[in-house]
Amino acid sequence: MRINENTLLEGHKVALVPYNENHVTRYHEWMKSPELQQLTASEPLTLEQEYDMQRSWRDDHDKCTFIILDKQRWADPRVQEEQCMVGDVNIFLTDPLEPSLAELEIMIAEPDYQGKGFGKEATRMMMCYGITKLHIRKFQAKIGLDNEVSIAMFKKLGFQEVSVCKVFKEVTLEMMVDESIQAELLDDSGYVMDMDYRQARAADATKRHGANAP
Ligand SMILES: CC(C)(COP(=O)(O)OP(=O)(O)OC[C@H]1O[C@@H](n2cnc3c(N)ncnc32)[C@H](O)[C@@H]1OP(=O)(O)O)[C@@H](O)C(=O)NCCC(=O)NCCS
Repeated sequence: MRINENTLLEGHKVALVPYNENHVTRYHEWMKSPELQQLTASEPLTLEQEYDMQRSWRDDHDKCTFIILDKQRWADPRVQEEQCMVGDVNIFLTDPLEPSLAELEIMIAEPDYQGKGFGKEATRMMMCYGITKLHIRKFQAKIGLDNEVSIAMFKKLGFQEVSVCKVFKEVTLEMMVDESIQAELLDDSGYVMDMDYRQARAADATKRHGANAP
């Protein structure tokens, strides 16, 4: 969806930016990993298909995605944005009859960044975005039964197991967003800054130019 096409969300460790064309080659490289394909239940795509997918994430009304950047690295004007990419976080509106229900997906693709709090912060920020901008009231996460890290992370965030599908070897976790959960989440994420992505990029380009000047 286009709602976040000019949105930059800055947390402590991560910055969330819209998934744009310049991110596709790095994303495509990540998804060649059989391990990531298995953990995220994804099929390998050609580069052309990945560009189609990026357009679909941007244009389709039932999908919202952000690329997760290492915020600290991104602040360095000498480093290209694509080199700061560490993963992605998505919301998928699975049921047209229940628009307040969202499936949540997260991937910290760079091994060096796993287990350092990037996933939890990005997921929390996406949940707040979903609640405030998309009026989500129920989140679901479908996770492979052997993906202990992801299951632990969603449970840590307050999700509860609701079903196990033995055929797909998948567990479904859910979180209902009642008033107290909403207040707690929004309070915890009060430090997150919601900014204009294009302006930030333009300022970044000016800094970069300055940094590269003789
Ligand atoms: C699963 C994933 C999103 C977690 O993100 P992360 O940045 O690595 O995790 P965080 O450092 O934010 O940790 C969040 C919680 O996960 C759990 N966790 C993290 N690393 C763990 C490990 N090695 N073993 C067990 N639990 C672990 C902990 O509960 C942790 O909370 P705590 O630090 O408060 O104890 C990330 O590792 C990832 O994307 N892995 C590969 C792809 C994948 O599995 N995607 C999910 C598909 S459903």
